[in-house]
Amino acid sequence: MRIFLDTANIDQIRQAAKLGIISGVTTNPSLVSREGTADYEAIIKEICSIIPGPISVEVLVEGVEPMIEQAQLISSWAPNIVIKIPATTEGLEVTSALAKENIKVNFTLCFSLNQALLGTLAGATYVSPFVGRLDDAGHNGMEVVKDIVDVFAHYQLTTQVIAASIRHPQHCVTAAKAGAHIATVPYKVLMQMLHHPLTDVGVARFLSDWQGVSRK
Ligand code: E4P
Repeated sequence: MRIFLDTANIDQIRQAAKLGIISGVTTNPSLVSREGTADYEAIIKEICSIIPGPISVEVLVEGVEPMIEQAQLISSWAPNIVIKIPATTEGLEVTSALAKENIKVNFTLCFSLNQALLGTLAGATYVSPFVGRLDDAGHNGMEVVKDIVDVFAHYQLTTQVIAASIRHPQHCVTAAKAGAHIATVPYKVLMQMLHHPLTDVGVARFLSDWQGVSRK
């Protein structure tokens, strides 16, 4: 399972990039709005220049034609941009049109296997089931991820499944076990994935034991 960073924060992206394990970034209008800039193009271009992998960027308009036009514009900003299109009726039509133009789509705000299946039939490169939001609504978000992964594998569909709306490290464990191709994680969760108190204790003990040897 590959790891994408789910943020529009440049500092977090730079920090995570140094670790050498981030394959891509997912943004959304809420994440960008937190960065206190109205310059969508500038912030997206900066993210694209830091991480060479796929950078998901959401359209900010509704309606088939406006979404297609904005997707074409956004995808011209950098070669690694993937356009996020919501799993709606209009979104499905837009996804089909963009796929015909070889513009990569992340079919987002997916909450069911049926939505994901329609996204892949329309030619989406990625589908993003939102695990945390499903859990919040009383469903089992990771079961939806597993169903999508299993059905795509059964029919040899090449669309990749991004486990999104990840809230804690256990979500990453279950996403990997479910066979998600990618988990897109907030920076805080990425750090939580790595941190283990026994590692800290072990490092401290090794160093102090070695200092004892050196003093003799
Ligand atoms: C994914 O592409 C979305 O940006 C993100 O995972 C949404 O997460 P949230 O439900 O925590 O807002």
